[in-house]
Amino acid sequence: MTGRSEFLPYARQLIEDDDIAAVSAVLRGDWLTTGPAVPRFEAALAARTKAPFAVACANGTAALHLAALALGLGPGDAVVVPTVTFLATANAARFVGAEVVFADVDPDSGLLTAATLAEALARNNGREIRAVFPVHLNGQSCDMAEIAALARRAGCKIVEDACHALGTAYGGRGDDAALVGECRHAELAAFSFHAVKAIAMGEGGAVTARDPALAERVARFRSHGMVREGDRIENASLARAADGSANPWYYEMPEIGYNYRATDIQCALGLSQLAKLDRFAAARRDLVAAYDAALAPLAPLVRPIARRADCAPVWHLYAVLIDFERAGADRATVMRRLAERGIGTQVHYIPVHKQPYYRRRYGDLALPGADRYYARCLSLPFFAAMTQDDARRVAAALAAALGRDRQEAA
Ligand SMILES: Cc1ncc(COP(=O)(O)O)c(C=O)c1O
Repeated sequence: MTGRSEFLPYARQLIEDDDIAAVSAVLRGDWLTTGPAVPRFEAALAARTKAPFAVACANGTAALHLAALALGLGPGDAVVVPTVTFLATANAARFVGAEVVFADVDPDSGLLTAATLAEALARNNGREIRAVFPVHLNGQSCDMAEIAALARRAGCKIVEDACHALGTAYGGRGDDAALVGECRHAELAAFSFHAVKAIAMGEGGAVTARDPALAERVARFRSHGMVREGDRIENASLARAADGSANPWYYEMPEIGYNYRATDIQCALGLSQLAKLDRFAAARRDLVAAYDAALAPLAPLVRPIARRADCAPVWHLYAVLIDFERAGADRATVMRRLAERGIGTQVHYIPVHKQPYYRRRYGDLALPGADRYYARCLSLPFFAAMTQDDARRVAAALAAALGRDRQEAA
């Protein structure tokens, strides 16, 4: 738990003794990588997301790249990516040589919507748009049913960037609800278990899938594209001994892949953390309620991001929208004032189309929803070990940083 004087970062992991014990057991065991912890973590993740298949990998960026590879995206193809996301979502398309069509987002939630997707699909500049990568920003899911209906009509495959949204449910209640990662409306979903995510593996990621062939491709590209047996083997005479038995050392590489494997060390930590996801999620939900209440007096200057009605998020970040102009203080000043009070904040994200690499490639794009979201967003400290008192302390410090503390007390 955090004390009053302790610095509150915008996010951090919660590692407990049993997590350390789980990792220590691996370090004392026979396998540091490609051992039994990997399939155990994959099975637990598949069960938790209700996905038939889960493939663990090195990080969320690798997960997105593997998804793009597994779908066979490449040069000549284009992928719609919402511009309010981390660089990795767009970069995964570029890694395979596909072009990115940046979509606008809802100005108040930062999410891709059916309307912003439709606009992006109409702006394809003659390239064939073959996929859409919706991003479940902050832990909140996009409206996947609407997005998928539109994407399917346009002949697109779907990869959910679920890096923020492990455990998030949407589109109904109880058993009717879909879980992010079960791929009800997507071919594949990509997760990150980076240290600041809802569960931490240090670095870590996974791809979930429904289709066994796609899951097999993800797993193959994760390890250099190698196959060892079965009907993918092309050089049967090299693969088999004279008596027809398989040569035990033999492998082939029908398509090129990468080393994107997750280690047993990572997966042991992931397994231990995954078992706590419900507890971490409840702590995050309680913090959201505490923040909402504590920040309410600052409205309309400060508002939480817009919440989607049919979504039950496992929140990754607590982002607010601040009218800096009206406050008479710019974002850097507010962040500095908060840092002086021991409070870390962050901006998620600079719209990716503004990056020099993408501006050189696609020119200046007008995406006004993203501009509005970016101009106002600020992520406040948010992690499972925070207390509700911490959230109230942040809210009071934000009021002071915006020059509204006296007004609030009045
Ligand atoms: C939305 C989103 N996509 C992709 C990634 C990439 O994940 P990783 O950092 O595990 O490579 C992140 C991680 O920060 C992310 O937030």
